[in-house]
Amino acid sequence: MTRDSKPFPSRANPLRAKARPRTATRQGFIPAEVARDAEAAKVPGLPARLAAANVIADVVQGGHRLEDCFSPLAVPSRLSGLEGRDVALVRSIVTVALRRLGVIRHALASLLDKGLPRQAVRLEWPLIAAAAQILFLDAADHAAVDLAVRAVRLEPKSAPLAGLVNAVLRNLARRREEFLTQAQTGEFDTPPWLAQRWRKTYGEAAARAISAMHMLEPPLDLTVKSEPGVWAERLDGIVLPTDSVRLVSRTAIAELAGYAEGEWWVQDAAAALPARLLGARAEERVLDMCAAPGGKTAQLAQARAIVTALDRSAERLKLLAANMERLGLHADIAVGDAMSYAAPPFDAILIDAPCSATGTIRRHPDVAWTKKPGDIDALASLQTRMLDRAAALTRPGGRIVYCTCSLEPEEGELQIAAFLRRNPDFKRQPIIAAAEGVPAEFVNADGDLRTLPLHWPADDPRLAGIDGFFAARIVRQE
Ligand SMILES: C[S@@+](CC[C@H](N)C(=O)[O-])C[C@H]1O[C@@H](n2cnc3c(N)ncnc32)[C@H](O)[C@@H]1O
Repeated sequence: MTRDSKPFPSRANPLRAKARPRTATRQGFIPAEVARDAEAAKVPGLPARLAAANVIADVVQGGHRLEDCFSPLAVPSRLSGLEGRDVALVRSIVTVALRRLGVIRHALASLLDKGLPRQAVRLEWPLIAAAAQILFLDAADHAAVDLAVRAVRLEPKSAPLAGLVNAVLRNLARRREEFLTQAQTGEFDTPPWLAQRWRKTYGEAAARAISAMHMLEPPLDLTVKSEPGVWAERLDGIVLPTDSVRLVSRTAIAELAGYAEGEWWVQDAAAALPARLLGARAEERVLDMCAAPGGKTAQLAQARAIVTALDRSAERLKLLAANMERLGLHADIAVGDAMSYAAPPFDAILIDAPCSATGTIRRHPDVAWTKKPGDIDALASLQTRMLDRAAALTRPGGRIVYCTCSLEPEEGELQIAAFLRRNPDFKRQPIIAAAEGVPAEFVNADGDLRTLPLHWPADDPRLAGIDGFFAARIVRQE
């Protein structure tokens, strides 16, 4: 870990004089019933733009997870009444808007000298949705501008400002190249508190490289049951050094060859490593302590271990069950809280702990805007208790792999150091990179796994990068 000198510029939301506190509301830009009303529905493309503005508000203002906004269980659903093609459009607008939120806000602020009028702060959401299309999607500028203006006219408090919205978005389209040049570094798109953390932990250059990776749409990684070379060829992908198959695909996942037959599952190449490090063997009793939706459970079951898949979320375990069924694999499913879970000691335990998920911002750009500094300490103390519970459930001679998809040391390096100090009967079993098929650059000086989004650069940027993961393997002394 190094420290360099040049800091990122620090930026609050430049569109507002004072950032408002996050509220867990679903107020959005416009009430869902207006978005669905007959007049709006008559204009092609308008319901999708209204839905996009509302989802952006739900995430950035309401703190909701992006995936939850697209769940059929979302209340209220911003997507009801939309056809599949429109839902895909909403997803692409919202994803790029969140990926590039910092630079979009910067561009809009440059065009709105005085920021947004107080009575019309909700204008931010349709403006962001339209700017995302103008700057980063292949949408025609006039359609993006026109539909944003129509959307604004539907919201009574904002309607008088439709002319302003029209002027701002036309100017944005005219000055697109200028803003795209400023957008190239990705610095605007990392919240200052996260940039500062990464600079402190990884140094200035690495922090910038991590932010740069977050600008890119990630590839699709698959874990295949067998024959990665064959599947890479069939799916027009490449085999990664760790045997995951990587694709650049816009085809719906369920339509790809091998999906229905259960030959593979979607899993970032870094996420596939912790279960491998556990080295589960046939007939061993293994606890997957935070199992849903089951990517790692599938790996453990594929190794023919006797797997208990524990998770406190019954909903997410339904997904796990469906995934396991498609894959033709078995695990015993248990709904419950890891902290009070009791069972005879296990041979091996995988803890894929709930965490800030800052290592997955490429795949989940909402994480950058929904997580707050205080979340890290709260999650780290939950992880501490989980580790201690897992220790009590491990037989003498048994092992634990603890992992998180976080870039934050409190949820990785510091967590495991503190565990080893508290539990002298456990010792770290360092990863032997070459022998275990793990790239040496992924293993830190202590012998733990530390992947960063900047790892695995590629000539074709669509094939570059990996999620940020930490994993440590610890063994209970006999
Ligand atoms: C990072 S996700 C697990 C991903 C999963 N291992 C996979 O590979 O697909 C963390 C999981 O921990 C679960 N969880 C959170 N707190 C828990 C607790 N106290 N006990 C059990 N599960 C918990 C969440 O419901 C969530 O499904």
